[in-house]
Amino acid sequence: MKNLNLKLKIWRQDDSKDPGKFELYEVNGLNTHMSFLEMLDVLNEQLIDSGRSPIAFDHDCREGICGMCSMVINGKPHGPMKGTTTCQLHMRHFNDGDTITIEPWRASPFPVIKDLVVDRSSFDRIMQSGGYVSVNTGSAPDGNAMPIGKEIAEDAFDAAACIGCGACVAACKNASASLFVAAKVSQLALLPQGQPERGERVFSMVSKMDEEGFGHCTNTGSCEAECPKEISIDYIRKMNWEYHRKNIKG
Ligand code: SF4
Ligand code: FES
Repeated sequence: MKNLNLKLKIWRQDDSKDPGKFELYEVNGLNTHMSFLEMLDVLNEQLIDSGRSPIAFDHDCREGICGMCSMVINGKPHGPMKGTTTCQLHMRHFNDGDTITIEPWRASPFPVIKDLVVDRSSFDRIMQSGGYVSVNTGSAPDGNAMPIGKEIAEDAFDAAACIGCGACVAACKNASASLFVAAKVSQLALLPQGQPERGERVFSMVSKMDEEGFGHCTNTGSCEAECPKEISIDYIRKMNWEYHRKNIKG
């Protein structure tokens, strides 16, 4: 087992008003089996022991589910490994002596709260504007009463893999949230439960995305390339089709 000695160039920022700056740190003797977040935990213990303020970063599940561990590592949202969240990135993918640059998501609808932590409540507001289905009270329907074709179910499941992390926004030069919104709109448009609000949903969620300050899709595909859940850009085509469908049907 190798040990790693690293230099870390990390963005420090007190709040959204603070201009922020990079600071350089060193961590030595790291185990290559550590995750990237465990490496930051080691650094934070050192900082706390020496009376300095720890690096603020978001995390929760640490198993690629919650979408909290948002940070840009060496210029790439969630770091260098394809289809991998920061919490599932391991230190064996780095070399002894490396300097690693770590920054928050850079997008105006995601203001920095502190250091690497950004406010992603704009995503919550987009979800509140239409990312739900009607719930009728009463007993649960029989599982076989609503058959869904295998291909449709798998398509909806692929869209449902979106964890709402915001890497697509951070990767896009227009800070577009199109891939996130498209995944949510498509998932619900494919399923019977999503039909009652189908047209209103796409109108509301796209309007809210614009209102929150996200830019237009650039069609360059950087969102798909950096998405840790490898959500296909084809869902943006499906979202646009849903939008036109609503326009035509009224
Ligand atoms: S589409 Fe991908 S990158 Fe965007 S929020 Fe969902 S999981 Fe994250
Ligand atoms: S901490 Fe939950 S996805 Fe990384």
